[in-house]
Amino acid sequence: MSRPQTYVCAGGGGVGKTTASAALALTLARRGERVLVVSIDPARRLADALGVKLGGHATAVQMDAGDGALFAMMPDPRDSMQTFINILFENEPEALERMLKNRLYQMLENAVPGMHELVAMTLTWRAVDEHEVSALVIDTAPSRNAVDFISYPDRLAKLLGGRAVTWLSALARSDGEQRPKGRAGKLLDRVLGPAVGDLAGFFGELARVRGRFVELNEGMAELLLGSRSSYLVVAAPTGAARDDAAYLIRRLEKLIGRPAALIVNAAMAPERAWAQTLSGASETTAAMGRAIELLEREAERRARASQKVVESLQRRHANIPLWRLPFVEALSPREVVEQLSTALSSLVPA
Ligand SMILES: Nc1ncnc2c1ncn2[C@@H]1O[C@H](COP(=O)(O)OP(=O)(O)OP(=O)(O)O)[C@@H](O)[C@H]1O
Ligand SMILES: [Mg+2]
Repeated sequence: MSRPQTYVCAGGGGVGKTTASAALALTLARRGERVLVVSIDPARRLADALGVKLGGHATAVQMDAGDGALFAMMPDPRDSMQTFINILFENEPEALERMLKNRLYQMLENAVPGMHELVAMTLTWRAVDEHEVSALVIDTAPSRNAVDFISYPDRLAKLLGGRAVTWLSALARSDGEQRPKGRAGKLLDRVLGPAVGDLAGFFGELARVRGRFVELNEGMAELLLGSRSSYLVVAAPTGAARDDAAYLIRRLEKLIGRPAALIVNAAMAPERAWAQTLSGASETTAAMGRAIELLEREAERRARASQKVVESLQRRHANIPLWRLPFVEALSPREVVEQLSTALSSLVPA
């Protein structure tokens, strides 16, 4: 399998992660890459940003991508567990059927934290292979813990290699009558009653597909933690977003290392076309003149406040490249993506 260059975008709520992810994907496609942009955010806004319908399979996006190709994907968190189990037991249809009937599985379904990210990454790994993707962009949820999923491969590897899995799966008897044996089995039987059969069965079935699990896990680790993975922190020029960014940068430094860039979105004020139009008008009343003056003053105040935040971000994270993106007056989210993509083309290193 080819190893794509991976970019993971993280940041606080509403700062433009999804827009920046889509714009970066478009920029890379225009450079000739085969790009896949995936949103693992359960809020699923990527489809709006690109103006297309998206699901758990990579869909080609109709945008002018030059020599490259652009695919997008947005798995639905509501069927995460079922999707995962289906992939895991792809070659074991009978075990799959038993698993789906297992009470423990039914209890766990949709209740496992991090399941959505895990499944979305598994689907991503497959799509990368299927579409020969050379660059991957991942849009994350607006949470301070949004990047924690990158530690899952490591955690899963420890879990799989651990004795608990071996021991629990050994409880499952090979004749299908899933009753625990020996002293430990009798004890469990007394404490848990009939549920122990389900418990042993659950791990027994999992043990059957352990190899597959390890393979999926390694694929995920390669995408997220390999030498070709970069992390981008997105912030808006506001005090709250600046604090979220500082937190995420610290978290990333602990998990994997310094982010490749800090994107400050909407940090440059647009040209004020309205001001030009109005000041050129031949007939303006005194009230209009006053209103224009107030608007101008308000716009300047905002630009100053945003400039201050950008400077403080620059000071605080002097060792991280800062990419400033303009605020764009556009009619649709897709147009914002188009314009930010142009701005990014001079910022993203080849
Ligand atoms: N630079 C920009 N100029 C103008 N509008 C922008 C810019 N960046 C983003 N927007 C608009 O702001 C809105 C929010 O952006 P987006 O959905 O990308 O943020 P987000 O960080 O992904 O949000 P969430 O935290 O909800 O996932 C969208 O309508 C988008 O089109
Ligand atoms: Mg978003």
